[in-house]
Amino acid sequence: MSKNYNIAVVPGDGIGNEIVPEGYRVLEAVAKKHNFSLSSKNFDWGAGYYLKNGEFLPKDGLETLKKFDAIYFGSVGLPAVDDTLPAKDYTFKVRANFSQYVNHRPVRTYPGVTRPLRSEKHIDFVIVRENVEGEFVQMGGQFLPDSADGMGIDTSVFTRKGIERVAHYAFKLARKRRNKVTHITKSNTLINSLSYWDRVITEVAEQYPDVAHDQMYIDNCTANFVLKPEIFDVVLTTNLFGDILSDLGGAIMGSLGLGGSGNINPEKEFPSMFEPIHGSAPDIAGNNIANPYGQIWSAAIMLEHLGEIEAANNIMDAIDKSTQQGVLTKDLGGNAGTKEVADAVIKNL
Ligand code: NAI
Ligand code: MG
Repeated sequence: MSKNYNIAVVPGDGIGNEIVPEGYRVLEAVAKKHNFSLSSKNFDWGAGYYLKNGEFLPKDGLETLKKFDAIYFGSVGLPAVDDTLPAKDYTFKVRANFSQYVNHRPVRTYPGVTRPLRSEKHIDFVIVRENVEGEFVQMGGQFLPDSADGMGIDTSVFTRKGIERVAHYAFKLARKRRNKVTHITKSNTLINSLSYWDRVITEVAEQYPDVAHDQMYIDNCTANFVLKPEIFDVVLTTNLFGDILSDLGGAIMGSLGLGGSGNINPEKEFPSMFEPIHGSAPDIAGNNIANPYGQIWSAAIMLEHLGEIEAANNIMDAIDKSTQQGVLTKDLGGNAGTKEVADAVIKNL
């Protein structure tokens, strides 16, 4: 009997409403080819929903999502809404409550896409970003913010449990790739939190003697992403550093619109959530020019997580064929529309 997967579809705001339906069209096409089926439900949650209902998702939203096998997400945020809310009230809420402690963000060269780097070498690495703690726990406060004595504090939290579990994911992932983990830190200056991070990761590394392990400071790492990105295999890093590095990863691929990702709960106790690395891009929304490749790649990462490896590979091959054929959106110097890209990928499956 063929399998069925039940997918919660949350396009969110801005270009999410354009690229998520296109990505889902690719999913349906690949399912047909590979003998499994999909059922889905659409949720109009996000900043637009907030403007009408005063919240990003209903009170029982997490309970609703919990019943699905996976969440296919765009991104949230609109210029008309306080921009401290989208992460706090949707993205971080889902990531933390569903223990999606791994943010899996691959970076690679796309055939036929011009990159901003001088190096023509092939790039293929994965940023593994700790996804629920670190700098983004939002513990802190402001004191007399309107006065001359005003101040604001955010505290970072790094727990042994939090570091160990994401490190195990990174080392296991490296075993399936080129056997190398580079962990990114700044322990020479953040001498409490990030030297603890170094220590715990080094302890975990000892359990994977077959995997090469080295450490690099974040500042040097940003330079190396540009100067010699081919040296990386698995890049293990904290929540904030991973957020920044993954936009840089998108940029060296050729556009933010090229990056796919998974917010993963490796134990599968909760659904995982798959989304492009970028935001809702309100500056280009509504024009059928948004690049959907990252959203489509996120569909492949989702299928891989669900165990449909052949279908996931099929999507990646079809993406490669499409970019090779020159089906490129405006951000990549082409003139294909969002829908045309999805059409090309489906044709190339
Ligand atoms: P952004 O990633 O939305 O856009 C940055 C730049 O990249 C823009 O010029 C945009 O046009 C371009 N871009 C992004 N995706 C593209 C695509 N697929 N095709 C072509 N061009 C693309 O980041 P920004 O402007 O900082 O944030 C916009 C909104 O998105 C904010 O409200 C922010 O809070 C939200 N956001 C939400 C995220 C999420 O839901 N996970 C993640 C990041 C930002
Ligand atoms: Mg980001």
